[in-house]
Amino acid sequence: MSLFRKAKPERILPQHVAIIMDGNGRWAKKRHLPRTAGHAAGSKTFKDIARYANKIGIKYMTVYAFSTENWKRPKEEVDNIMGILRQYLKDTDQFKEENIKLQFIGGRDRLPEDIQELMAKAEDDSKDFTGMHLNIAVNYGGRDEIVTAVKKIIEAGTPAEEVTDELISQNLYTAGQPDPDFIIRPSGEYRLSNYLIWQSAYAEFWFSDVLWPEFGPRHLEEALDSFSERNRRFGGV
Ligand code: IPE
Ligand code: IPE
Ligand code: MG
Repeated sequence: MSLFRKAKPERILPQHVAIIMDGNGRWAKKRHLPRTAGHAAGSKTFKDIARYANKIGIKYMTVYAFSTENWKRPKEEVDNIMGILRQYLKDTDQFKEENIKLQFIGGRDRLPEDIQELMAKAEDDSKDFTGMHLNIAVNYGGRDEIVTAVKKIIEAGTPAEEVTDELISQNLYTAGQPDPDFIIRPSGEYRLSNYLIWQSAYAEFWFSDVLWPEFGPRHLEEALDSFSERNRRFGGV
């Protein structure tokens, strides 16, 4: 037997992790609590996971906070989610402490005006931060994002032969960022729900039954271990 143990191969981290923060409502229901309690708990999980991801060296993270389809929910629930977002945006010291660069993706026009202003301020205040780049998707829909990009391209008078993959990517909300290479969805649902549909063309996926408010660093670690073992071929051999 060799005296030397084989060195463990270094774990390969994804460049860009995208998370669908789902299962808040079911978490609350299980505890006989209102759905709003689930969103409050989910928001705490979000802060913990973002902090942890930044600490372990994830460069880009995108979280799904509110979709273009979520407006279908009762007004009280929508207002509650907007209230949580407003509170988060007001507590700006947390970005400074974490050195996290914030960006919001999605259509802003439909959001309450004060939230639009707070978003712009948070982005501006954190623009020179060198830690993780955190995108928060609010009123985000992948199809809406592609339609918006196509409109911009047409409005710029682009000739058809100049329309390429890259040009479309450059006109998405995530312009200039690497595509998400790892998408995590807890809560036992196996679908994208209109999330990053262009950018996820070659992403790896990780699904789990854990509900988002229960998702902890150990679940992220488990997911990252799985990612590290994947054989990504991109159509090659
Ligand atoms: C995700 O949790 C949060 C948002 C979509 C805003 P849900 O509210 O969808 O929770 P479930 O899916 O009903 O459990
Ligand atoms: C996706 O979750 C959107 C967010 C997590 C913000 P949903 O709960 O809205 O997705 P569906 O309705 O189950 O597909
Ligand atoms: Mg859901």
